[in-house]
Amino acid sequence: MMTKLPVGVLISGRGSNMAALVEACEAPEFPAKVVCVVANRPDAKGLDYARAKGIPAVLIDHKAYGSKAEFETAMTAALEANGVGFVCLAGFMRILSPQFIEHWRDRLINIHPSLLPSYPGLHTHERALADGVKLAGCTVHFVRAEMDVGPIVAQAAVPVLTGDTPDDLAARILTAEHKLYPACLSMIAKGTAKVADEQVEIAAEAVEAAARLYSAGV
Ligand code: GAR
Repeated sequence: MMTKLPVGVLISGRGSNMAALVEACEAPEFPAKVVCVVANRPDAKGLDYARAKGIPAVLIDHKAYGSKAEFETAMTAALEANGVGFVCLAGFMRILSPQFIEHWRDRLINIHPSLLPSYPGLHTHERALADGVKLAGCTVHFVRAEMDVGPIVAQAAVPVLTGDTPDDLAARILTAEHKLYPACLSMIAKGTAKVADEQVEIAAEAVEAAARLYSAGV
């Protein structure tokens, strides 16, 4: 039996990327499995989805803690109690401290709805439309202390079409996210994508498959 990488997913809301990861992990040959979902908001819809799938789903409400350090200690404790060895941020909307990030160094990735380093932070789609760019997309990257910065695992591009609203663009990018995130997790879990000198090195046998991801949204 293959040993699967035990993954925890942190969410703040809808959780569609978390669901895409869970569904990919259901394939017997997928090298990772989601063993825990943590949400920082009681109204995070993704908690219901995870529970319906029988995955331990924990609410750790940041408002219930006196400090960020206590909140993050509770998250790490919940993740580790469930055997998590690798963490995926999936629409998790709290800024994490350097201490948390260091604890999970090179075991913590994020998905962001832009082609980083363009458009870090919030309102990415509005900003891309205001600039008139013709390509947008999403990025999966290892997390570092600076927001939306860190070694890039892979990116997927989608076209920006005349007349797009921010919601149109967000929806097109989200479709790409749902393909990109599981593919990145798979490469990391197999060991074909690794951090080396603060870049992600893709093993020779995975280079072509990784390149195909660039148009995952088309
Ligand atoms: C996704 O588009 C994700 O890339 C974005 O929030 C959305 C969450 O959707 N994340 C960020 O903006 C992080 N800075 P989901 O809850 O349905 O996965």
